Amino acid sequence: MSDTASTPNPRQMSEAHFRFIADLAHKEAGLVFPESKAPLVRTRLNRRIRALKLPGYDAYCALLRSPEGAQERRMMISSLTTNVSSFFREAHHFDLLRGEILPPLLERARRGERLRLWSAGCSSGQEAYSIAMVLADLEPDYLQMDIRILASDIDPNVIRIGRAGIYDQGLLGDVPEDYRERYFEPADDNGTAARIIEPLRRIVCFRELNLLHEWPMKRPFDVIFCRNVVIYFDAETQDSLWRKFEKYTAPGGWLILGHSERLSEDVAGKFVVAGPTAYRLPPTETT
Ligand SMILES: C[S@@+](CC[C@H](N)C(=O)[O-])C[C@H]1O[C@@H](n2cnc3c(N)ncnc32)[C@H](O)[C@@H]1O
Repeated sequence: MSDTASTPNPRQMSEAHFRFIADLAHKEAGLVFPESKAPLVRTRLNRRIRALKLPGYDAYCALLRSPEGAQERRMMISSLTTNVSSFFREAHHFDLLRGEILPPLLERARRGERLRLWSAGCSSGQEAYSIAMVLADLEPDYLQMDIRILASDIDPNVIRIGRAGIYDQGLLGDVPEDYRERYFEPADDNGTAARIIEPLRRIVCFRELNLLHEWPMKRPFDVIFCRNVVIYFDAETQDSLWRKFEKYTAPGGWLILGHSERLSEDVAGKFVVAGPTAYRLPPTETT
């Protein structure tokens, strides 16, 4: 685990350092780092140590342990999260959204009912904006209705990017051509970046939220996307999250997971499987 076998190096991360950091990441954010991920953890945290101008891991771990280390504990989690995302990732979920999930929900929204969607673990916002584009395409009068998409993530850096809604043109490859024309505008003079148009940004609310902490939202959601987030958690943490998500899904509502994620048996029994990694709670009489 050391940088070199023989020379003492202040940037060396000992087994004890790694254990302490891995335990902290698990306790604070549910993230699991087996021994095999030590090189990745070291690469990411060496950057923090350099930025803080600390001599090495003894000083860094002491900072993390101290009451003054609260901010750095957040920065550490931010450095250790994997934020890979893209527009219309796992495209079949957006086909389901367009064809099956949204039409009846929009029908209710047109009658004045509220419609709430949640991109949990939204990274830099591509998932939430992909949902918003499909919704706006189906219902151009969306601003006249009580429709909101909550986009939440533990990492304040990605929340900032999502809120700004500015993306490099190179990231728009999977956005359908007509969506690119209708829902983006140039963000600079040389055409290298594009910004989500303001009306669409207005219905997407970005919030910093650690899924392991208490959720401040009071009412359930009609649709929850939580994709490619819990893969980094252990089975116990995943199970407790599935139970919470079930409570936060409205009757007849939908829970959409990433391609390699599955509900635990207990919770799966409450839902009907409605497509690959797409689950629906049975509707009540009125939904
Ligand atoms: C790989 S990205 C997935 C982004 C998007 N859902 C998608 O599928 O494209 C995983 C996101 O989960 C977030 N995350 C990890 N642990 C979290 C936690 N405890 N609470 C909230 N978000 C968390 C990370 O910061 C990261 O942005």
